[in-house]
Amino acid sequence: MGKALIIGAGGVSNVVVHKCCQHSDIFEEICLASRTKSKCDAIKESVKNTKTVITTAQVDADNTDEVIALIHSFQPDIVINVALPYQDLTIMDACLATGVDYLDTANYEPIDIPKFEYKWQWAYKEKFEKAGITALLGSGFDPGVTGVFSAYAMKHYFDEIEEIDIVDANAGDHGYPFATNFNPEINIREITAKGRFYKEGQWIETEPLSEKRTYDLDEIGPKNIYLLYHEELESLAVHIKGIKKIRFWMTFSDNYLNHLQVLQNVGITSIEPILYEGQEIVPLQFLKALLPDPASLGPRTKGKTNIGCIFKGTKNGEPKTYYVYNVCDHEECYKEVGSQAISYTTGVPAMIGAMMILKGLWKKPGVYNIEEFDPDPFMDELNKCGLPWKENFNPTLID
Ligand SMILES: NC(=O)c1ccc[n+]([C@@H]2O[C@H](COP(=O)([O-])OP(=O)(O)OC[C@H]3O[C@@H](n4cnc5c(N)ncnc54)[C@H](OP(=O)(O)O)[C@@H]3O)[C@@H](O)[C@H]2O)c1
Repeated sequence: MGKALIIGAGGVSNVVVHKCCQHSDIFEEICLASRTKSKCDAIKESVKNTKTVITTAQVDADNTDEVIALIHSFQPDIVINVALPYQDLTIMDACLATGVDYLDTANYEPIDIPKFEYKWQWAYKEKFEKAGITALLGSGFDPGVTGVFSAYAMKHYFDEIEEIDIVDANAGDHGYPFATNFNPEINIREITAKGRFYKEGQWIETEPLSEKRTYDLDEIGPKNIYLLYHEELESLAVHIKGIKKIRFWMTFSDNYLNHLQVLQNVGITSIEPILYEGQEIVPLQFLKALLPDPASLGPRTKGKTNIGCIFKGTKNGEPKTYYVYNVCDHEECYKEVGSQAISYTTGVPAMIGAMMILKGLWKKPGVYNIEEFDPDPFMDELNKCGLPWKENFNPTLID
């Protein structure tokens, strides 16, 4: 059916490539391109028994002209951006210049300001409309499936959704004293930022990790969850009509938080460059170099993730609650594709989003967040592609 250019060769990319290759009728050819070509070659080598034709290439995605040249030579139908959020705009520019659809899993963030928001990418809406191409933003799990869950709840169960609590729990154990499950730089920037949630038209800021609850999660048990700001809050506050409150919660172990506290106290999570022996270094980038590569956690991680959305609203004038979530097993993911569940839960929805566009089901010119599309075909594919979901019509609510 089509050709996909996949940019980035980290943990998430490994899953996207494997899952595309399980759907060779749709992804007939893929080109895997990244800054370090040897990582692309290693992913290619790890894929067995597929009819998808895989090629690899070197590209610096910070350089729009390089991406344009690669698109001209490979002629893809879609570009799947699973590099870093810093590359979103340069890759979108390349898609505009060549008339190719675009998909990513994380919204743009300037490298020198730890502040992600959609304004930069939403500003491309008209240009994409005029070019007749689709940009699907945030097709991972969160953002991604959480937006699809919200659209599904709205379509099937509610007349009005008043409150959403997104709960992202990871009970995986990789055996290291401290490691992050995806890119450490992006992960630590997100967690050390102030918390924020939406309430009645206002954004309310909280000190980092200051709001804590305990929540009992299916297949995982009770866990401490902490309020964070997360990018889908911004788009859901716009797209879920009538919404009054949205919060995002994530689990952290005490051990993780203790390590993070010490790292912050000594200043090694800072993004302010410092001079070290005459050379300028960014402390957080140096820390990234010290920490285990998230892609290496796969064979060591045991346990499960549970990520989902709890909704409160009304249907036919009656109050209603609904919880939809996925439970994913780190070891099962590793057995299937050689990655742990954090990469898996991101990579599978990225592949499904691309499938929706290539099949023409979600093809409309412009720049869209995932909750703006019909959720039903995506929800069906989640069940078929390794991320089955469960429903609870009487969930415990978070105060
Ligand atoms: N929505 C979600 O649920 C969710 C969850 C987790 C992660 N994510 C997002 O998924 C993306 C990938 O995460 P990951 O854990 O796979 O990260 P990762 O392991 O660090 O991989 C990132 C890849 O991008 C490549 N890259 C970086 N800069 C590049 C450039 N200028 N040109 C070309 N390639 C470049 C890196 O190349 P090198 O190998 O040379 O460094 C690396 O291969 C990130 O944007 C992350 O925020 C989304």
